[in-house]
Amino acid sequence: MPQKIILDVDTGTDDAVALMVAALSPDIDLIGATTVNGNTLVHFCTENTLRVFDYIGVQIPVFEGMSLPLSRPDFERDEDSSSIHGDLLDLPPATSQKQAQHAVDWLIETYLASAGDIILVPVGPLTNVAAAIRKAPQILEKIPEIVIMGGAHHLGNVTPLAEFNIWCDPEAARIVMNCGRPIRMVPLDATHRALVSRADCVEFRRIGTPATIATAVVVERRIGAYDAGQPMARLGAAPVHDALAVCAIIDPGVITTELIHVDVEVQGPLTDGVTVCDFRRGRGKAPNTHFAVDADEAKFVAMLKDILGRTA
Ligand code: BDR
Ligand code: CA
Repeated sequence: MPQKIILDVDTGTDDAVALMVAALSPDIDLIGATTVNGNTLVHFCTENTLRVFDYIGVQIPVFEGMSLPLSRPDFERDEDSSSIHGDLLDLPPATSQKQAQHAVDWLIETYLASAGDIILVPVGPLTNVAAAIRKAPQILEKIPEIVIMGGAHHLGNVTPLAEFNIWCDPEAARIVMNCGRPIRMVPLDATHRALVSRADCVEFRRIGTPATIATAVVVERRIGAYDAGQPMARLGAAPVHDALAVCAIIDPGVITTELIHVDVEVQGPLTDGVTVCDFRRGRGKAPNTHFAVDADEAKFVAMLKDILGRTA
């Protein structure tokens, strides 16, 4: 039986690849996507999500969610995210429509009606998820696991220590990290170890499905932006963070995790939005997170080629 998931996205170039992996993998049943303010304004994230689904020919409902962080009305986007993502993906305009219901209400309704078998996969700021938990805490017992792309231990990407998704809405992230449900976290420490290269993009284009072509388009943009502004261990290659989180549901062996306690700093002038990871064994608070410390690049890239090489 394919694993049911909901993807909460701020699409976004790497969110786009995550959406395609989830929509096309025979091991995943993507029952819906919810959008949130993050890489760009939420209405662009929604349009981009619809563009991705239309382009690969799948019909999956898209629900638009929160347009600002929970308690930061003066939120200003990080400059780097504009060059890596832009506002609109370079794909044809969407012809399908978003659903009328608000994402937070749909999440609550869907979880309450579920058999407790839908993994929640937030790969953007955690605003929708925290808002749903705050409004209807009884959904928690129906969420079997939350698989988050976000956080960083060794190196941030917005500040020296903070990762973008957590930094965008630290108060929301703190609610989610302390919600008491099983959490798997795929942070930069793992995603920066699984890069996709220009040579991989050539191969994506050769495979020639709508999903591999769309992936080449967005990953090439990412590589240009990373090489220019945030170089990785080697040039000509970039992380595709959100897709790694989805791949970890399909094959947990694509990441290596350690069970630790993670909380979020919400007020440090130098550490706002930092995931505070307690790797001290046997000390401190009880572990709440399977935190990925490494990833298998070859396996990740092979999964992308296999799954995205399929058609709907
Ligand atoms: C995360 O931030 C966003 O820019 C990406 O889509 C990813 O979810 C990486 O820090
Ligand atoms: Ca994202």
